[in-house]
Amino acid sequence: MYTKIKETAAWLRERMPNAPTTAIVLGTGLGQLAERIERILSIPYSDIPNFPVSTVEGHAGELIFGRLGGKDVMAMEGRFHYYEGYTMQQVTFPVRVMYELGIKTLFVSNAAGGTNPNFKIGDLMIITDHINYMPENPLHGPNIPTGPRFPDMSEAYSHELIAQADSIAAKHGIKVQHGIYLATQGPTYETPAEYRMFARLGADAVGMSTVPEVIVAHHCGIRCFGMSVITDLGGTDNPVKVTHEEVLRAAEAVQPLMTTIMEELIKN
Ligand code: HPA
Repeated sequence: MYTKIKETAAWLRERMPNAPTTAIVLGTGLGQLAERIERILSIPYSDIPNFPVSTVEGHAGELIFGRLGGKDVMAMEGRFHYYEGYTMQQVTFPVRVMYELGIKTLFVSNAAGGTNPNFKIGDLMIITDHINYMPENPLHGPNIPTGPRFPDMSEAYSHELIAQADSIAAKHGIKVQHGIYLATQGPTYETPAEYRMFARLGADAVGMSTVPEVIVAHHCGIRCFGMSVITDLGGTDNPVKVTHEEVLRAAEAVQPLMTTIMEELIKN
């Protein structure tokens, strides 16, 4: 796999129009941020050697090189989820390539179900820590020498970036929650009993992404910052249905706030 990573990085390096040290994984809630990037070059994933082939109908995904908040950035529009059937190595392949290309800071977003009883639909949550509840760890297998065999995880989400995000949010009067994100393999949303279990395990929100990418980025010494949009609430006394459409609608509504925080963080 290491050879493939190097190969893909070399292919991209020949085509890259700029030299970003910042990368963004545009998950749910950050579609609007994608529009704010002044694009210089967009490459469909299907054109990039060794990149996983997207299974999602509709948009296949693109790697974007451009400028945001006066900085060179590289952004993934569309990510690879474990529930789609990719291996953990495929899910995290783009992050490995980012490291080879010189990325030092990674911004990620996602939609998540709130398990913290104080959360409301539409809340923004700064991820302060995570629980890997997926069935596998993306570092499983021979150690790729970007980091140690047994990596420290005491600060997977940069405390410094969290503090900066807090002051940006305060400055703009944006209310943000802090919380622990638990990643499941999906694709089912949780039963009410599972939401309650995850709350007891210490999770504030539950989703199906982000953790694999952050583990690999952290192993590569890349600083990470992540935010969740709370799109639904489970485990209450009156459980309600969760649908993908509602998740997208809730995320849409708070997009501008998440975009403001991310853009200003990147600018700073
Ligand atoms: N559970 C898991 N993933 C999710 C949820 C959820 O409730 N909401 C959005 N993504």
